[in-house]
Amino acid sequence: MAPTSAAAHAASDASATSSAQPAPSALDAAEPAPVDVCAEAERAPKLPRPTDPRDLLFHVSRARAIPAEFPVSATSIWSPCSQVGAPPRRSDDLVCVPASYSHLNREALRAAAFESDAPANFSRTHDALPVGRDGKIGFKAMLDDAAAAGHTLRLRSGFRAYTMQSATFSGWVAAELAQGRTREYALRKVDASSARAGHSEHQLGTTADLVFARPNGAFYTGWTQETYAESPAMAWVAANAHRFGLVMSYDKDHEGASEYVWEPWHYRFVGAEAADLMKRCGWSTEQYLELRYGEDTTPRAEHASRSLVPSVTPTYTEKSR
Ligand code: DAL
Ligand code: ZN
Repeated sequence: MAPTSAAAHAASDASATSSAQPAPSALDAAEPAPVDVCAEAERAPKLPRPTDPRDLLFHVSRARAIPAEFPVSATSIWSPCSQVGAPPRRSDDLVCVPASYSHLNREALRAAAFESDAPANFSRTHDALPVGRDGKIGFKAMLDDAAAAGHTLRLRSGFRAYTMQSATFSGWVAAELAQGRTREYALRKVDASSARAGHSEHQLGTTADLVFARPNGAFYTGWTQETYAESPAMAWVAANAHRFGLVMSYDKDHEGASEYVWEPWHYRFVGAEAADLMKRCGWSTEQYLELRYGEDTTPRAEHASRSLVPSVTPTYTEKSR
């Protein structure tokens, strides 16, 4: 491309002062121009959309569901970590995060204990929570690094079976109804912040909600977006998660793309390469996956076409979303 007159002018200025400057070495001149990785990724041919939810870049969204049979054996609301120390019972892909990395609201979990297979000793033993193997590697490494930087973080909610996601969504709807809201209002509000069963990244096993310790050592247990984002611990996570292959799935700038409200606690392990690219190029998970696999033309279920409810600010309470 011909230089613009401004560029030509700048070049002639540079040559005018070159006698006072060291000449660029032949090596410098031979260095290739830096590759614009974002433009390159945008131009790359579209890849086939993975059909196996074990793929780290499996595309789950409001429209796209995880196959109902995944993981084959995790059919209960109860995680394979209900009994600490026991090997995973329901899926080889799920592993327990030790209690030292998890922080659970036992009362809320006990309150949800309406399924018949709740272990009798549930309240004493439910100290660990499951995530997929890959997710555990990413989260554990990040929590260790955060600790070294002076931030105490814990996983609050990891893998959720289909039934658990269903109970999570219904629980939020029930809470709205209990406040006298209409069912329509409740569904519109909860749809903006909680995925329908089959559509949650938590069902992949690579996603977890984080909670952080405040300076007094107590864990923050509310779910206010600003409180999260402004805490030094979560600001550290937002700046560093990509180094561990983790991304904030629903960020403030991309509520429109994901159609979920900003969730500064919800991170998904996508692997270092994808996380780095997303961070560098400013892409949300949804944008990146659309770029990678092409436009998502999956027919939308009725609930999937709901838009955010701008006038409603979700009230986060003592449950993971
Ligand atoms: N809160 C997110 C959208 C979920 O339920 O997976
Ligand atoms: Zn979450």
